[in-house]
Amino acid sequence: MSQRIAVIAGDGIGNEVMPEGVRALDAAAKRFNLDLDFHTFDFGSCDYYLEHGQMLPDDWFEQLKDFDALFYGAVGWPATVPDHISLWGSLLQFRRQFDQYINLRPCKLMPGIKSPLAGRAPGDIDFYVVRENTEGEYSSVGGKMFEGTEREVVMQETVMTRTGVDRVLKYAFDLAQTRPRKKLTSATKSNGISITMPYWDERVAKMAKSYPEIAVDKFHIDILTANFVLHPDWFDVVVGSNLFGDILSDLGPACTGTIGIAPSANINPEGNFPSLFEPVHGSAPDIAGKGIANPIGQIWSGAMMLEHLGYKAAGDAMVTAIEEVLSAGDSQALTPDVGGQGTTESLGKAIAERIAG
Ligand code: NAD
Ligand code: IPM
Ligand code: MN
Repeated sequence: MSQRIAVIAGDGIGNEVMPEGVRALDAAAKRFNLDLDFHTFDFGSCDYYLEHGQMLPDDWFEQLKDFDALFYGAVGWPATVPDHISLWGSLLQFRRQFDQYINLRPCKLMPGIKSPLAGRAPGDIDFYVVRENTEGEYSSVGGKMFEGTEREVVMQETVMTRTGVDRVLKYAFDLAQTRPRKKLTSATKSNGISITMPYWDERVAKMAKSYPEIAVDKFHIDILTANFVLHPDWFDVVVGSNLFGDILSDLGPACTGTIGIAPSANINPEGNFPSLFEPVHGSAPDIAGKGIANPIGQIWSGAMMLEHLGYKAAGDAMVTAIEEVLSAGDSQALTPDVGGQGTTESLGKAIAERIAG
């Protein structure tokens, strides 16, 4: 069966890593006899904004809603478009309008990569961050008053709905259920944030009653970030609100050597809308145009997309290829962030060759 995939490269290194993501997917499609039908869109980028005055065309929802999946690069180019405009005008709309309420972000120390944490080896860091992806601190409820005067006030509310909290918790508990360690950690801050976070804790405690076999703990976000660095081996499935999940899902991958390898799946589990797969990282203006961005975050996101579409063996083969290339440690192939002297393309090609078998 043909799978229709919308490809949106976005900005900066999004344009450099996306071709490698597609190259890897093409190799997997060939080997596993899949029919992947890619459609490329130029919207969802700051160049599009500069030309059209908006990040997306008015009919973007209609144009995208029937795709089987969306494959995104990275968006944002703060030198020309303020970040809140580019992101609220694109990625955050996709997440919200397509009800992609799970943001699943694996953090795994891969063979061949040196963790910046002393004495950590592959196996020591292997957990998932499950991030709430449509509400919480990322809300549009708020406003400004007395703008431009001494009395200026700005407010932005955190919104937690019972449905929104319970569905992400359920997903995280179900995921923990499939893992050998069966452990779930909740990120909270109920000591200082006195309404929404105690509510979050209350829903976690309630949900835990339905999962007696899962070992549940919770940490306030401040000490949790410290424990990511001090004791990454404690974690298996970590669930957090939108903002806490965002922070943890850059910190986790940084502990595994580079954020350049980290993938993410923005999932609408019911399949009412397409899910979106993208690296965790952004457009990296500091290295854009140099051809040295690590393409693994994009390729691994492609692997998560294939698994989501029902092609688990193909997705697994892509991840195995990534692991093999990293273990082989050929510095001519690897990008500088993982200690090599290669390019986005050399690393992408090395992985695609392994996928091809
Ligand atoms: P960033 O993730 O773009 O970059 C942070 C650092 O990590 C930079 O030093 C960068 O060079 C490095 N890095 C990122 N990806 C890499 C890769 N693949 N290989 C090697 N090194 C890599 O974060 P930022 O600088 O805070 O944001 C830049 C822009 O991207 C902003 O406009 C921001 O809003 C946007 N952003 C978008 C997304 C997204 O599209 N999902 C995510 C994060 C940031
Ligand atoms: C991410 C990014 C986005 C987020 C930004 C760019 C709006 O940091 O995907 O992690 O905060 O969700
Ligand atoms: Mn982020």
